[in-house]
Amino acid sequence: MHTTRTLFFRLINWTSRTLFANRLSHAHIQAFLRNSSLRKLWNLAIVYKDIYLGREHTRSKPFVLILETTNICNLKCPFCLTGKGISGGRALRHMSFDTAKHIVDQVADSIYLLQLYTWGEPLLNKNTLSIIEYTKTKNVYVMLSTNATAMTPEYNKRLIESGIDYITVSIDGGSSESYKKYRVGGDYEKVLNNVKDLLQQRRSRKAKNPFIEWQFVVFRHNEHEVNATEKMAYQIGVDKFTPLPAYTEDESWLATDERFRPQLLNPERLKNCARPWTHLNIRADGGVASCCYEFFKKDDFGSMDETPFSETWNNRLFQQSRRIIGQERRRVPLEKSDIICYNCVKSGVRPSYVTIDADDLKLNKPG
Ligand SMILES: C[S@@+](CC[C@H](N)C(=O)[O-])C[C@H]1O[C@@H](n2cnc3c(N)ncnc32)[C@H](O)[C@@H]1O
Ligand code: SF4
Repeated sequence: MHTTRTLFFRLINWTSRTLFANRLSHAHIQAFLRNSSLRKLWNLAIVYKDIYLGREHTRSKPFVLILETTNICNLKCPFCLTGKGISGGRALRHMSFDTAKHIVDQVADSIYLLQLYTWGEPLLNKNTLSIIEYTKTKNVYVMLSTNATAMTPEYNKRLIESGIDYITVSIDGGSSESYKKYRVGGDYEKVLNNVKDLLQQRRSRKAKNPFIEWQFVVFRHNEHEVNATEKMAYQIGVDKFTPLPAYTEDESWLATDERFRPQLLNPERLKNCARPWTHLNIRADGGVASCCYEFFKKDDFGSMDETPFSETWNNRLFQQSRRIIGQERRRVPLEKSDIICYNCVKSGVRPSYVTIDADDLKLNKPG
């Protein structure tokens, strides 16, 4: 059974990479099918027209909203910037319900999908459930990724009742030994029982939602457990199992299996970056990030605490980033710039975990 599912998800990935040069996830497809409207479809058409024409000033609005509900975490995963205790120059905070509502209200007419995390553990914010409940009244698909440590039977009940569509649980291992090597501070038995409880509650309600994905970040110390864990995940009722190549700053942590080694230098895909037209990323401190790979406050394009969406979306920095991406697509020399997209597009190295000075191709480790 799990082989059929794996093949199905591989087919979706292959098709979306071939057609859109980007990974189109199950969540994207479900969001499109479930949460469309004429207004959103019209906006989508303008988004893609403006990407195609390389428009720097766009009349379209984003169709994915990312709200970092918190930049605080209870674990210390060694290659996660938050896990390392790096703040990136930001205040550490849980986003308030009012802040989230204020942002959602400004873009709900164009948004298909709301993602409720970037760097931090979303279930630690006591407002996360009410943010989900509110956004679900706006015909938006809602998803989050969690380390599953803060779940309890009562919390799981409320999570299902909130109407959330998709939950990724991050469990990198099929045994306590390997799990705790990366998820420092986590308890394997506890998170596994939390996920089993969530699945059990969903089953007893005969509910299909939320869709539950088990994500397994693959390192050298856990790669031998991938197959057995995938089998176990499907046995307990998980809908999708995803082994993910790990970003590390330490070669000795990298998996030996080529399939699980990250492709850091991949300019071909970055040339097709469309995020400054498609995604609005808001960090826990209200900062408007260029994309989910951006971490440091100095790289922000604005602040939703200070400026409304309507004045931010076409500001100088957004226009500059669209210009750089447009130049790369047309294969004309990039205009030298100190915004984060310049290094990213020119080098093909995404700006988290490692940064790069694209002009002398020097890799730097953040932190
Ligand atoms: C920074 S976490 C924030 C959400 C939540 N705390 C969690 O762990 O799921 C976002 C995603 O990054 C993934 N991640 C963490 N460390 C990683 C690494 N070294 N390489 C690749 N992905 C990683 C997590 O598994 C998660 O899916
Ligand atoms: S649980 Fe998530 S946010 Fe927390 S340290 Fe690990 S990867 Fe980072």
